[in-house]
Amino acid sequence: MTKQPRKIIIDTDPGQDDAFAILLAMGSPEDIELLGIVAIAGNVPLALTQKNTRMICELAGKPQTRVFAGCDRPLSRNLVTAEHVHGKTGMDGPALPDPTMPLQDQHGVDFIIETLRREESGTVTLCPLGPLTNIAQAFLKAPDIIAKVQEIVLMGGAYFEVGNITPAAEFNIYVDPEAAEIVFKSGVPLVVMPLDVTHKVLTTRARVAAFRGLGTEVGRVAAEWAEFFERFDKEKYGSDGGPLHDPTVVAYVIRPELFKGRRINVEIETKSELTLGMTVADWWGVTDRAPNALFVGDVDAQGFFDLLTERLARL
Ligand code: BDR
Ligand code: CA
Repeated sequence: MTKQPRKIIIDTDPGQDDAFAILLAMGSPEDIELLGIVAIAGNVPLALTQKNTRMICELAGKPQTRVFAGCDRPLSRNLVTAEHVHGKTGMDGPALPDPTMPLQDQHGVDFIIETLRREESGTVTLCPLGPLTNIAQAFLKAPDIIAKVQEIVLMGGAYFEVGNITPAAEFNIYVDPEAAEIVFKSGVPLVVMPLDVTHKVLTTRARVAAFRGLGTEVGRVAAEWAEFFERFDKEKYGSDGGPLHDPTVVAYVIRPELFKGRRINVEIETKSELTLGMTVADWWGVTDRAPNALFVGDVDAQGFFDLLTERLARL
């Protein structure tokens, strides 16, 4: 029997690494049926993330993709952005033309709700690559959809690596901890790609050269994104390249065997000023709290880059 592609919705705040995730999904039609992409405020404000999303679709030659704008701020906090990492457009690096494809009129949260109500229960996977505001808002507005989600595979959090936006918290969770709490307590099967794993997929010289070596527009842009994005983490951590956080989510959907993790309990800190947005991960099983997530800690990094490069080559 041939494997059916998995239906996914990507929820995203591009972000150069978000762009790699979207391209990986678009280059993998035998594995993934991309139902739509919802933009969220995160790395930069919503006006830019929805525009960046459409630029990525056009770069991939997929202007027919349905792109929606979701929430423009966290559930109950002011937006925190990350221009210091991604540049003022959120996707600094190569110059790309402004998009001409349309933004859908429907609100992204309503698209998520409508899609989950329409599709057969247990057949739609949500892939959040930014703050979890849209997903939480959809669950608050339409609790009936929660039981219909097949799985949520998300990039967010950290345990061994601790924080990147504060000493304790990873950016996506920190920006909207209340939304993260709703998602982590929802009962939906969760797969979490924390910094512990994303800091192992580094854009080394050879890997960036492989993008450029594709000899395509997508390959050139991918190499230039990687070169812009990596400067921040290389300086901060002294690493050999930048961590391509978000495509780990899509790679997991395509090839879960590239990753290793533990099914554990993960709770979100929403009260403490000092550790706000921390993912309190019971990696060592020291509580009797029930597991709610597969928390990923390891990856076949070269296998991941080989997959990514192979799929980018198709666009
Ligand atoms: C996450 O934050 C964003 O800056 C990246 O796009 C990624 O989703 C990493 O902490
Ligand atoms: Ca992101």
